[in-house]
Amino acid sequence: MKKILVTGGCGYIGSHTIVDLIENGFDIISVDNNSRSSTQLLEGIEKITGKKVKNYKVDLCDFNDTNAIFEENPDITGIIHFAAYKAVGESVEKPLLYFDNNLSSLINLLKCVGSFKVPYFVFSSSCTVYGNPDKIPVTETTPIKQAESPYGYTKQMGEQIITEVSRATGAKSILLRYFNPAGAHPSGLIGELTIDKPQNLVPVITQSAIGKLPGITVFGDQYPTRDGSCLRDFIHVCDLAHAHTLALQYLINGQLTDTTDIFNLGTGNGITVLETIKAFEKATGVTLNYKIGPNRPGDVVAIYANNDKAKNLLGWNPAHTLEEILQTAWKWEQKLNEDEKLFTGKNITLN
Ligand code: WQD
Repeated sequence: MKKILVTGGCGYIGSHTIVDLIENGFDIISVDNNSRSSTQLLEGIEKITGKKVKNYKVDLCDFNDTNAIFEENPDITGIIHFAAYKAVGESVEKPLLYFDNNLSSLINLLKCVGSFKVPYFVFSSSCTVYGNPDKIPVTETTPIKQAESPYGYTKQMGEQIITEVSRATGAKSILLRYFNPAGAHPSGLIGELTIDKPQNLVPVITQSAIGKLPGITVFGDQYPTRDGSCLRDFIHVCDLAHAHTLALQYLINGQLTDTTDIFNLGTGNGITVLETIKAFEKATGVTLNYKIGPNRPGDVVAIYANNDKAKNLLGWNPAHTLEEILQTAWKWEQKLNEDEKLFTGKNITLN
């Protein structure tokens, strides 16, 4: 079996991708310093796949510790690089934290790719690289505009660094531009674990619905969209995970003729924040408590994907609906709540 190193393997998208990779016959090792994740998701992966995945609890910002992983695993065929901080709002408040963590870790990893001649590299990029696009939906050739946040800058710079390194070393790379990942594995055994207060809309919705948060603040309803709230393209995390397997197979099968290529990973359906709240209420029967607040600095107004390239070249077909995204996210939140009640023995009061 081909051995794949997944960085951030204990994280939300990383854990779901590991499940898909194992189900497609790959041998996986993970590296994750658990600064914003826990090994709980590795237990979920084992329950789903029957495979125990080894995680190296290493900070990729430490070159020597990172290099040691490759010395111990000289047979790594490919790398899928998820490990990074990803909260738009936090990156505006703490830019240096984001530039240091997200770029130093990437550069250390690429140094090892060069010295250990790892042939294939898949990068977790983001639609935030488009900034506020003039025209939507965006394609992979939509001009890259000024990023709206330091988080977006780290993804833009990350793409440039990888492109140049691939050109210089011949290591083949694919940049995957995610739209808004959401939802959870249908088993309810893995999902999004937020260590502190959630920043992203869907976990804020589910934590409000379960009573962990008092309600939802909609960050602005005066934008130039159909209902004034921001517009996004929510993609089910399992669809997103499978795209990584397809990208890796595309590389291994020698289908990438250039040294780097880029793919949008979104559904191609745009939905506003207010519509998402209504869709959750309809999909789950839970009434949400929300209010309108000020705009959030760093927010893109409206963006959704043209995903034809991933469909045509990778054979990717995102199958999960928005309803399934919201229902699986809700199932996961309820499971977490049950586990917490078991663990703490106390009832979490529902609002
Ligand atoms: C979505 C919308 C908020 C919380 C995310 C990831 C980023 C990247 C792109 C993958 C915005 C609004 C949110 C709340 C709200 N993904 N919102 N109240 O900013 O689009 O970026 O997708 O790489 O990593 O962070 O996602 O869910 O934070 O916000 O009104 O309490 O929901 O203003 O318009 P975002 P998000």
